[in-house]
Amino acid sequence: MIIDYAAWLNLALRWLHVITGIAWIGASFYFVWLDNSLTAPSAEEKKAGVTGELWAVHGGGFYNPKKYAVAPAHMPKHLHWFMWEAYFTWISGFSLLCLMYYYNANLYLIDPSKMALTPFQAAFIGLSFIFGGWVFYDELCRSAIGRNNKLFGYVWFFAVTAGAYALCHIFSGRGAFIHVGAMLGTVMVANVFRVIIPNQKKVVAALLAGKEPDPRLGAEAKQRSVHNNYMTLPVLLVMISNHYPMLYSVPHNWLVLAGLAAAAWPIRQFFNLKHKGNVNYWYPVTGALGIVIVALFVSAHNGNPVVAAHVGKVSPEEVRLIVRERCSACHSDMPTEAGFTTAPKGIEFDTMPEIKKYAPLIEAQAVDHDTMPLGNATHMTKKERAELGAGLKDLTK
Ligand code: HEC
Repeated sequence: MIIDYAAWLNLALRWLHVITGIAWIGASFYFVWLDNSLTAPSAEEKKAGVTGELWAVHGGGFYNPKKYAVAPAHMPKHLHWFMWEAYFTWISGFSLLCLMYYYNANLYLIDPSKMALTPFQAAFIGLSFIFGGWVFYDELCRSAIGRNNKLFGYVWFFAVTAGAYALCHIFSGRGAFIHVGAMLGTVMVANVFRVIIPNQKKVVAALLAGKEPDPRLGAEAKQRSVHNNYMTLPVLLVMISNHYPMLYSVPHNWLVLAGLAAAAWPIRQFFNLKHKGNVNYWYPVTGALGIVIVALFVSAHNGNPVVAAHVGKVSPEEVRLIVRERCSACHSDMPTEAGFTTAPKGIEFDTMPEIKKYAPLIEAQAVDHDTMPLGNATHMTKKERAELGAGLKDLTK
């Protein structure tokens, strides 16, 4: 019996990460929608300090949430705080990052053709970006720039793009992308942990003490909450991007990421305005156009230039030899590469029919892009990629 502990831990952390992430972002979307959808309260409720209310029906019940301008006259006995969803999303995500990208740095994070780092150096650089990103963001919020929402948006967008540019020149495309996501996700959770919740606690404490709460506390929390709202879509995109080599394996991959993040802005804006009854379809049209532009850019830069070079005729036997030498350490029914007990994604290249069956995938991963071999663990050369491409074409004719 072989127990692949790392694989089970990976599954458990990923499962937890998705569940807590849904709970966090789901609650966050709900409250943004609620806040934007409130209707005027009755005169009587207005007197009690209610500024807006909503009637909704869901799952067989009627619900009537109310929003108080500052706080109700008396603190309720049970007050629910939304924070553990966010904290567990970060804890599970950060653990998964360590397990996949730092523990297996040679496979997923380091690209020797960009920088020949040791796993320790790579992890140190990665962590510096994640925590440095928060320090920079927090300072920016507290500076004069932070008081102007629009200006802040531009400055933060360019700062993150600069970070993505640097990361894409240090790590593998996939490793760089996940670090941009981890950086933004950390900022969002730190906003909850360091600003939103502590400020709300101070407001509650002031009210319980019969004092007027400092309005700055609420304004600061609101600012961070608005930022989180706009960062949600880009963060979710980056988190799923590691399943799409077409995004991270192309030249100028940092620009692809910036383009998609920019296209997500009008889409988020459309929903924020729509909840307030202001429907403007130019926003989603602009967002969709942005995505099309990125798709065209990616398609124009696709393909491995060296591979296009003429390499002459390559026999099926030569194809099999290249695959055996460069891929079979992992993609075999008995992998020899450390850390692999089964072929990744169940994809095996042991026989000629298997190679033929997977030919389009092999071409996409190892000929058109350098995505495989993972971390170029088996030192595949550009010439071999060209030969593999030519041989596969003949094989599938
Ligand atoms: C060091 C181990 C390793 C080597 C060597 C390796 N791969 Fe992979 N391969 C993986 C892993 C791990 C995955 C799963 C990646 C993921 O989880 O996204 C994978 C996934 C794939 C996929 C499926 C991609 C998808 O998402 O559909 C293909 C196709 C593939 N590899 C082809 C190759 C080819 C061709 C070679 C040789 C040129 C090769 N691999 C060499 C580890 C390796």
